[in-house]
Amino acid sequence: MIEIEKLTKIYKLNKKQQKELKVKDTQKIAVSDLSLRAKEGEIFGLLGTNGAGKTTTLRCLATLLQPTSGTIRVNGFDTVKDGEKVREQIGFLTNEMKLDPQFSPDYLIEFFGRLHGMNTEKIQERKRELFEYFGIDQFAEKRVEELSTGMKQKASIAVSLIHDPKVVIFDEPTTGLDIITAKAVTDYLKELKKQGKLIIMSTHIMSEAEKLCDRIATIIDGKKVEEGTIPEILQRTQTDDLEEAFFRLYQKYGKAV
Ligand SMILES: Nc1ncnc2c1ncn2[C@@H]1O[C@H](COP(=O)(O)OP(=O)(O)O)[C@@H](O)[C@H]1O
Ligand SMILES: [Mg+2]
Repeated sequence: MIEIEKLTKIYKLNKKQQKELKVKDTQKIAVSDLSLRAKEGEIFGLLGTNGAGKTTTLRCLATLLQPTSGTIRVNGFDTVKDGEKVREQIGFLTNEMKLDPQFSPDYLIEFFGRLHGMNTEKIQERKRELFEYFGIDQFAEKRVEELSTGMKQKASIAVSLIHDPKVVIFDEPTTGLDIITAKAVTDYLKELKKQGKLIIMSTHIMSEAEKLCDRIATIIDGKKVEEGTIPEILQRTQTDDLEEAFFRLYQKYGKAV
């Protein structure tokens, strides 16, 4: 269970950032007063355009950032006070996370398994399962830098899930992947859901959210503007598909463009 209560994250902007963003503000409110709950056995989607605040929210959830205010609990553990406990429960993956290029998937998965305190037997068992599922076996001894983009992402997923976490946090899991690899990734998310895991993912791809997510929170400018199952969202926005629903919400809540 994930419980986010009134999460706000404000970044301080330095002179260089102010210049780059062409603003005079000394701070940026990336996430504002955002609350949500997600539970086991569901794929929960954070849907929003670039800059909406998805990554910031997921990084706070994964204990990589501290909220400016508000609280987050993962299976009852507070991400600030019980960070260590939270990290035991979660697997976190983003498409920006890069495996060390000079090591092999085989080496890396064992390294991270040990880091999570797993014994050799358990590591071997999980490794077999994951490598077989993602077809990594024949590439297991190659250096990461020799792998294709798709194989790198599959290896990253395997490494991030070696400890069989209860809660899986995926930031834009399919961005930049070809459709075959993207499908392998989304099929695996469905498989995790079947196993009773809680998956929270972000995406800016409406069709992906529509196909995959049981519930969706739409985020615009750091604020949650809508949450529900897809039929609920379509009904409330009086639209026929999620893309239309998103445009409707954007017209209502987005800054004038
Ligand atoms: N480290 C940072 N310092 C300052 N501003 C940031 C930082 N990281 C993200 N932001 C800003 O916060 C907002 C939300 O970013 P982010 O959470 O990455 O959104 P998303 O993942 O939805 O694209 C954006 O306006 C972004 O420019
Ligand atoms: Mg992002």
